[in-house]
Formats: sequence, C-alpha cells, structure tokens
Amino acid sequence: MTERREAIERAKAHFEELLVEQMDRVERMKAAEDWIDYSMIRPIVIGVVGGDGIGPYICAEAKRVLEHMLQAEVSAGKVEIRDVSGLTIEERARAMKAIPAGVLDELKRCHAILKGPLTTPKKGDPWPNLESANVAMRRELDLFANVRPVKVPSQGIDWIFFRENTEGAYILGSKGLNVTDEIAFDFTVTTTQGAERIVHLAFDHAKKNGVNRVTAVTKANVIKTSDGKFLEVARKVAKDYPEIDLDEWFIDIMAAKLVDPKRRTQFRVVVLPNLYGDIITDEAAEFQGGVGTAGSANIGKRYSMFEAIHGSAPRMVEEGRAQYADPSSMMRAAAMLLGHIGFVEKARRLEMALDLCGQYERKVVLTGRADGATGAKFADYVMETLQDPELEARWRSHQ
Ligand code: IPM
Ligand code: MG
Repeated sequence: MTERREAIERAKAHFEELLVEQMDRVERMKAAEDWIDYSMIRPIVIGVVGGDGIGPYICAEAKRVLEHMLQAEVSAGKVEIRDVSGLTIEERARAMKAIPAGVLDELKRCHAILKGPLTTPKKGDPWPNLESANVAMRRELDLFANVRPVKVPSQGIDWIFFRENTEGAYILGSKGLNVTDEIAFDFTVTTTQGAERIVHLAFDHAKKNGVNRVTAVTKANVIKTSDGKFLEVARKVAKDYPEIDLDEWFIDIMAAKLVDPKRRTQFRVVVLPNLYGDIITDEAAEFQGGVGTAGSANIGKRYSMFEAIHGSAPRMVEEGRAQYADPSSMMRAAAMLLGHIGFVEKARRLEMALDLCGQYERKVVLTGRADGATGAKFADYVMETLQDPELEARWRSHQ
C-alpha cells in the first residue's frame, strides 16, 4: 500500500470509531430519563471540588457561605455538603486520566457539585496533555446546558447565555487526528437531540421569564452542516413557542454588537453551540467586571455542576497572593446551585448580598493583592450582609 493509502485507511478507522461513539451517545440521549426532582431527594448531596491554583481558596469561601445558608437543612439531614478530593492536576497527571475513575464515582454520588477552576493542560505544559477535566465532567455527567447570566443593571444589560455543553467543537476536541505530518483534522458534531434539548431549555427560560425573543448564534453561513443543523433545530423548536421570536445572528457580528451600547441591551436570552458560547460568555462577563465576577451552571437531567468561568490563576499562587483572590464568581456559582436544587429564595438573597458587597456598597474591596481584602474577609462581609433583615430594602435602594 502506498503511504497515502495507509494514511487514509488509518483515518477511516479512526473516523469509524468516532461515529460509533456518537451514534451510541445519540441513543443514550434518546433514552434519557426525566429531570430529577430535588424535592423528592433526601439528603441532597452537594460535593465540593476545590480544584487547582486559586480554586481551593475561593471554593473554601463559597463553601463557608453555603454552609452558613444551609445550616438548618444540614442539621435536619435534608442536605449534605461534602468535599470531593482527587481532582487536582497533580492527581490527574498521576492517574493519566482527565478524571480518575474513583473520583468520577464520588462525583456520581453527588447531586450538585460546586467546583473550583481546574488546570487545563495544553501542548508544551509540564503536564501530560490530558483532556480538560471540565470537558470530561460535562460529558461524563451529561451536563448539556452551560447557563451563564451576565447583568449590569446600570447599563440595561440583562443577558443569559445557554451554551451547549456536550457537543460541538468540544466533544471530539481531544480526538482529532494528524492524518499525516502535514494534515491535522478536528471534528465538530451537532446532533438533533443535543441541539433540541439546549434550544428547548433556552426557550423555556424565556417563556418562564416573560422574554419574547431568543437569540440563536451560529456561523451557519460557513459551517454549513453542524452549525446549519443547530440553526435548523432552533427554527423548528421555535415553532413550539409562538409567543417568542427567534432572532438569528452570526457569531462574528454578535461579538461586535455586544460592544455596541445601543444594540447590546436588546439581547436577553442567547442560545449557542459550545465553542461560540465559550468565547462570547468571556466577552460578556467583561462588561460585568470581568470573568472573576461570573458564575456558571452546568446542568443535566440527573447531575449539575456549578463553577466560576475563569481559570485557576496559577500566577496568583506563585506570587503568594491566592488568599486575595476574589471568591465572588464561586459565590455566584453557589447561588445558582441553591436555586437549582430548589432553594430559590436563598439563591435570591445571596445574589442580592453579592450585588451589594461586590457592586453597590463595596465596604470590603478586593484588589487581588495585599493592598486589598482577603477572600475570607469578603466572605465574612457577605455573610454579615445576608444576616441583615433589611437586606432586600438595602438592595432595592440601588435599583
Ligand atoms: C469555560 C472554560 C473551559 C471551556 C476550559 C477550562 C476547558 O474556558 O468553562 O468556559 O473552554 O469550556
Ligand atoms: Mg471559557
């Protein structure tokens, strides 16, 4: 066989394997059970994964706030908060796995996970070039919806992004192929089931919240097949919601319009494939004060995971500044967690306290350095604010 023929045969075999995997995944999606009902579960188990870099620091502060808010429920055996260890980059590198098997079992014993940032190895790092543990967790727990709200009330910004979280450019991100030394191939996948469930969730959210437009973002004019399918599914799902308009945008112009103060306030609910969602949500969070201020929910029918949208900031640790890292993003994530498992009022109070402490009153200010407060001091401030019976009035005075 010629060299070229061999390369093609190898690529075909590789592609065949991927096809089988994806076809199996579609079957699993078709068979998926219904949404878990947290009101029927006792105890609801919250797992806390510290993560890498500043992760354990900011996570510990968010956990303190959670424990403070759930004291009664924990004592009554309705909720259990437990640490899940074994997911640091050192441990992943030792096991040579994105998520060591024992840890995955532990995670599956939880209902909701609060997770600090995890180092994602890339080519050239001192770590083995393992798959991202975030991506692996989203896939293994089938956390198909990455929900990322961004709000800047003073500028009329009230966005919520529904990023598809289990397919697109990510699902086979570590299963690309160097067909020859000269040709590198990656794959991107959209399935009908995968697109339907995320688009439905976005429309349901719009409906519940009285929003009459859902923006779908793709690059379907160029990425015709997979983005084309995402858009086609969005159009089909939109028909089930006659009171809600589908607003179609391409990712490039959407990224531009987010910077336009006149146009950007018109976006409310946005649904988009994985990679575009990754990029746009970092851009969006910047208006709110940066990725350090944004929380993110990863939701599936059975499991859920809540995290910050930023990375592990290893430089802060190297420079001995980890204790000054801003835990707001993890606390926003904790608020989303509370809301998701049914403590809607507690979630609202935590949101208000975070708005007050981080944006309106700022009596404790973090700078990321020794001239600012520590994350622990900020957490104390948040808990003190939560205890104030006038919390809501204090918050309202800023609206
Ligand atoms: C995010 C992060 C992750 C992603 C990385 C860490 C794999 O950027 O949650 O947005 O790309 O999804
Ligand atoms: Mg990202």
